Amino acid sequence: MNTYQTYRGLPALAGLCGFEAALKPGLTVEECVRRLKRYHYACKRLHQIFTARITAEPIYELKNGFSLHAHLCAEHATALRRRVGEMREPPLGLEQVAEANLEIFFDEILGAPTTEELVVGLYEKAVPALQAALEQHVADTNPLADQPSVRLCRFALLELGDLRQFGAQAAAVLIDGAWRAAHADWLALLDDCLAAAGGLDGTRPVAAKPIRRRHSATPYRYDGHPRRDERFPDPYNMGVNAEVFLYDEQFPPRPKTLMMFYKRLREIDVPEMMASIITETTGKPWDYYRDMTRQLWDEARHAMMGEVGFVGLELDWRKVMVNFTWSLALNTQLKPLERHAVLYFIEQGLMPRNGKRFEWEVGVASGNPIAALFQDYDWADEVLHARIGRDWYLKQFDDPKQAVQYGDDCWSRVLIDWNKWRADGLTQHRNWWPEIYRAACQRWGTEPDPAVLAFHTTYEAVRADLKTISASA
Ligand SMILES: [Fe+2]
Ligand SMILES: [Fe+2]
Repeated sequence: MNTYQTYRGLPALAGLCGFEAALKPGLTVEECVRRLKRYHYACKRLHQIFTARITAEPIYELKNGFSLHAHLCAEHATALRRRVGEMREPPLGLEQVAEANLEIFFDEILGAPTTEELVVGLYEKAVPALQAALEQHVADTNPLADQPSVRLCRFALLELGDLRQFGAQAAAVLIDGAWRAAHADWLALLDDCLAAAGGLDGTRPVAAKPIRRRHSATPYRYDGHPRRDERFPDPYNMGVNAEVFLYDEQFPPRPKTLMMFYKRLREIDVPEMMASIITETTGKPWDYYRDMTRQLWDEARHAMMGEVGFVGLELDWRKVMVNFTWSLALNTQLKPLERHAVLYFIEQGLMPRNGKRFEWEVGVASGNPIAALFQDYDWADEVLHARIGRDWYLKQFDDPKQAVQYGDDCWSRVLIDWNKWRADGLTQHRNWWPEIYRAACQRWGTEPDPAVLAFHTTYEAVRADLKTISASA
């Protein structure tokens, strides 16, 4: 072997590794699959926790981070499932608990009662444990024989590094030393769970210390009540009907971009709502969860595009009242399938002329390149979402018309009690539009258009798809 040369010294073995590494015994297929199943379990549980905790987490930035990280974990879980399926492994057993103490480890994080515990559990315990396991796999396995697994590990490590960094930055501002001291016991419990599992990958000696559940002593219950941080001061405000303004031909494109940025930012309620469908729907094929989570992430991305739109104009988005009335109403009044029906029904309405193409045309006509760009991608994403709706919602019905009708019926049944909220003092439905429009005109260096300034249509009588709200709602 020492004298072996490749042709004119070209890279050996497709550039994967040298001969010494390729001659390493590495992991058997059996051991490789055993470990892959544990990584898969970790990705699935991380996906579950990130998703389940979006709705009731008040901090907007964490909602967005969780949305992305749920999507990434779902993608890596998908890749790992496929790889296990390539490894002479039927039955795959991918729906089973990988190991009892590992289950407690993730249950404890899922049931973390505060944002701080959740952040530390996810980003300082679970993610690093998975990183260490994947690094160990790359170090242990034969890089030639097990190249497909190595590739998955490397891709996953790339993104897990991003998660870790996000978590470190979040922990640095949310958590201090006193907090850590006060929560040392629980953090040690998480370490004990991993030790009792022989590490996340089960390659270390199993610690014999008995594990007692704390946050998961009573089973986790999903909280579908959306919460927001203090930058959302009026979450029941439905005082400005963005759709009526957007589709009114008398108004020019530029102020409409402002309303579109508002509409995008308000979409943070879609991850809040989709998280409830994904969390409360059991027994679907894995690809259902993966596709729905991709859409959930897209909707969070749309919200951030709205945020960027305001930042680009140096406007304070806290001055526009980003409400949670839609996610609140759907999560608390409808069953998961009914929520999906409403989502599908609304998205059907976005495909014709009066929808995403129109918004993109407004963006282009406005002369604001970022409004045009965001609507361009928003439209493309919506086409994907329509496909996801066809694959996972529509197929449950014999007749597509019936599926759409069911969505309309469910949406009509939702009680969004505009007047009662005002009577109960939850909101005054204050018209915030003139203030933000005036501020935008200052940025643009133009005088406010009196007709635009005078816009004051609320959601009292017209719901977001421009249907007149029935007397009951
Ligand atoms: Fe969207
Ligand atoms: Fe969408």
